[in-house]
Amino acid sequence: MIAVDALTRRYGGFTAVDDVSFTARPGRVTGFLGPNGAGKSTTLRILVGLSTATSGTATVGGRRYVDLPDPGREVGVLLDASAQHVGRTGRETLTIAQRTMGLPRDRVEEMLALVGLTPQESSRRVRDYSLGMRQRLGIGTALLGDPAVLVLDEPANGLDPGGIRWMRGLLRDFADRGGTVLLSSHLIHEIEVVADDLVVLARGRVVARGPKADLLRAAGPAAGGGGLEQLFLDLTEGALA
Ligand SMILES: Nc1ncnc2c1ncn2[C@@H]1O[C@H](COP(=O)(O)OP(=O)(O)OP(=O)(O)O)[C@@H](O)[C@H]1O
Ligand SMILES: [Mg+2]
Repeated sequence: MIAVDALTRRYGGFTAVDDVSFTARPGRVTGFLGPNGAGKSTTLRILVGLSTATSGTATVGGRRYVDLPDPGREVGVLLDASAQHVGRTGRETLTIAQRTMGLPRDRVEEMLALVGLTPQESSRRVRDYSLGMRQRLGIGTALLGDPAVLVLDEPANGLDPGGIRWMRGLLRDFADRGGTVLLSSHLIHEIEVVADDLVVLARGRVVARGPKADLLRAAGPAAGGGGLEQLFLDLTEGALA
């Protein structure tokens, strides 16, 4: 389980993440939504130890990411696919991670097949990858250590419709097998289809959280039958007013 508790991050006088609390549970996909600049990436970066909190905590299975003995096998992370080493091929990228984590060699070919990178593509350098190919490689890297928890920031970015559907199935299946998925996305429709639970941020604060079905039902008439998109706009514009 992921637990974020009273998390706050300030940059100088600006509060990017303001007293944020939520959980993401096993067997469920938790959608993390919010307008540009709401604080989603900042929260996820703190969760995986790439940034520090000003106060509050973010833990996986009760421990901070930096305290996990074998983080790659416990938490699969895809934050910024453009952060990959561009001089390496896709296969080299996975092989280095496979060795670092002490995993069997055949895991690399398994992941390449899973994410749909052909032998020809996997021997191309990442600098020559399309955005969607980088995302696929990033998802392969995240899944390499067979983690129970996935943290994904905008993983559908750059994926074509087939790729988006493929990823939706992959995340659903991962959660159905008991995994925990925390997924940020701008694609409201994607979140609407795949998420079980929602956390909505606006200006660094949680403006709604809970099971998707409950939030949609409660918003029913107010959202004017507009579904999650209308609910999202109502919640986040309300927070900005
Ligand atoms: N290192 C930093 N220094 C100063 N401000 C920062 C820093 N990192 C993030 N911020 C600010 O914190 C706020 C939240 O940014 P964040 O990237 O978390 O938003 P986001 O919800 O991921 O947005 P998007 O949907 O555009 O990805 C923004 O106003 C951003 O400018
Ligand atoms: Mg972001």
